[in-house]
Amino acid sequence: APYLAAAFAAGYLLGAIPFGVVIARLMGLGDLRKIGSGNIGATNVLRAGGKGAAAATLALDAGKGAAAALLFAGWGPDAQVLAGAGAFVGHLFPVWLRFRGGKGVATFLGLILALDPLAGLGACAVWLAVAALTRISSAAGLAATASGPLWLWALGDLHAVLVAAVLAALSWLRHRDNIRRLARGEESRISLKRRR
Ligand code: G3P
Repeated sequence: APYLAAAFAAGYLLGAIPFGVVIARLMGLGDLRKIGSGNIGATNVLRAGGKGAAAATLALDAGKGAAAALLFAGWGPDAQVLAGAGAFVGHLFPVWLRFRGGKGVATFLGLILALDPLAGLGACAVWLAVAALTRISSAAGLAATASGPLWLWALGDLHAVLVAAVLAALSWLRHRDNIRRLARGEESRISLKRRR
């Protein structure tokens, strides 16, 4: 249906805004894609040296996922899910960065919070628990995205389960290098201390 394609496209345009790259540049932290993991997300903004900038990136990347879903809620549940999915796909494959974007953890959490707040809180709790245990952002992100469809399913929010599972799988694919580093015990840990 054309209105569903329109919802997805609008979500995509919102999600394609690479807030991490923009904020890092505005705050004089340099080109995020040449720092640390090279990723455009909040974790790498933190590596680049900005706690406040990382918090802003997290809020805006999650916010665009939530906003896409909320903006299209009035078009019905399918449009809402597809707009949120569009934002997620936009974050992973932004036209402005030659389709080389991020890994989608923040945007996933934002959109699932908007679709089903309880499932979203569940996924955030998983992120926090794994981050507290391991201090590794990618491990927390992998666990949180995998838990998303499970929370939706457990809470009976079945119309979003399939899409959430596809998005979680995409996020896992984009974490290939992280998974390799995790397997080798070489993944970097979250540090809130100033490094430079
Ligand atoms: O949200 C992305 C996170 O899971 C991993 O980021 O920079 O460590 O690859 P990074």
